[in-house]
Amino acid sequence: MTSRLPHFYDLAPEDRRRALVEQGGLPEDHLAALAQGLTLEQASRMIENVVGLYSLPYGIATNFLINDREVLVPMAVEEPSVVAGASKAARAVREGGGFAADADASLMIGQIQVLGVDDMTAAAEAVRRERQAIIAVANERDPVLVGLGGGARDVEVRPIADSPVGPMLVVHLICDVLDAMGANAVNTAVEAVSPLIERLTGGKTNLRIISNLADRRLARARARVKPDSLTIGSWEGPVVVRRIVEAYALAAVDPYRAATHNKGIMNGVDAVAIACGNDWRGLEAGAHAFAARDGVYRPLTRWWRGEDGDLVGEIEMPMAVGIIGGATRVHPLARLSLRLLGVNRARELAETLAAVGLCQNLAALWAMATEGIQRGHMELHARQVAISAGAEGDEIDRVARQMAEARQVRIDVAQGLLERLRAGGEPTERQC
Ligand code: MEV
Repeated sequence: MTSRLPHFYDLAPEDRRRALVEQGGLPEDHLAALAQGLTLEQASRMIENVVGLYSLPYGIATNFLINDREVLVPMAVEEPSVVAGASKAARAVREGGGFAADADASLMIGQIQVLGVDDMTAAAEAVRRERQAIIAVANERDPVLVGLGGGARDVEVRPIADSPVGPMLVVHLICDVLDAMGANAVNTAVEAVSPLIERLTGGKTNLRIISNLADRRLARARARVKPDSLTIGSWEGPVVVRRIVEAYALAAVDPYRAATHNKGIMNGVDAVAIACGNDWRGLEAGAHAFAARDGVYRPLTRWWRGEDGDLVGEIEMPMAVGIIGGATRVHPLARLSLRLLGVNRARELAETLAAVGLCQNLAALWAMATEGIQRGHMELHARQVAISAGAEGDEIDRVARQMAEARQVRIDVAQGLLERLRAGGEPTERQC
């Protein structure tokens, strides 16, 4: 199986599905999920008050080589250029050997807020002393997770001297959630231990909930790109390397830029997380809190020019993703996505997402440091504008092409072109 699917972009959706089976190694019977999607009945079992389904485009980013494994990356996303950008940057990275990625064990933090504690020092000491007892109570509640080798691992105490409601003690329960995202396991565990925490501290517990700042569950990826692989038109590779490093440098020193830089990373991470039925809001919260962990908001990636002139990049970010629980088994496309990615453990999914985040960031920097981001966006954006103006069928491509060529992609322009087309004339660039 290979993730290099030349001309995949040019195929019709039906033929792309076929290529996934013939060249991507997807079992034929999985194609039904693509055609059917989520049913109303399945949706009604997922959330409350269901009245319909809301669809997103589901595309495949090609060319990924991650830890020497060929990976086809499913993405659910509404934004043009995300899938194309990822595929293009993944191709440049594969020419330099692909992504090397790794991830920590699936350690998640559950927080227990304790109020009304008289003696903070004694209470903190009691919790530390009874660490094993607390772990045992948590683990009694989840024999399945423990049987599989996971469960509560550690207890930490953080006295907080000042807050809007006075001092409080925060107890952290560290749990290995194995292949799950973790919210259910962790929330069950913190609720289970809270009566014991109250007895030990003499206080009253209030919040008992997972923390999305999953800083014990980081994933990392690294890429090395040959300058030649980055040449675009008249932009020579070494110049592109320099300009990408310069572009990164602004994110390194300026939170206004770092926010957009990280947004581009999350374009890729979220798209794959959604395709895999994972909680992308949790990933977003973790990513941005981690980016600001030392009090200044920073980029999640780093780019530099290696001694040999190659562009080198790396990413490190929290990656609380799972291959069981949530929508991963309920949503047919989530099951399909995990099958396509070929991941058997949550850790492998985390590694893949880290590689995709780094890749998406490279795609954005590469475009912006050379021909600008709008050119790539133009064609698909023009199609969206044409549709908004009322174009249908082959009118869409005809109106979009004219606007893109004239670099005037606006609703009023689309409406004018559409009127002319329907009146019997072919729209021309001059009319844009
Ligand atoms: C747009 O969705 C994402 C970018 O703004 C990311 C970036 O600026 O790095 C292109």
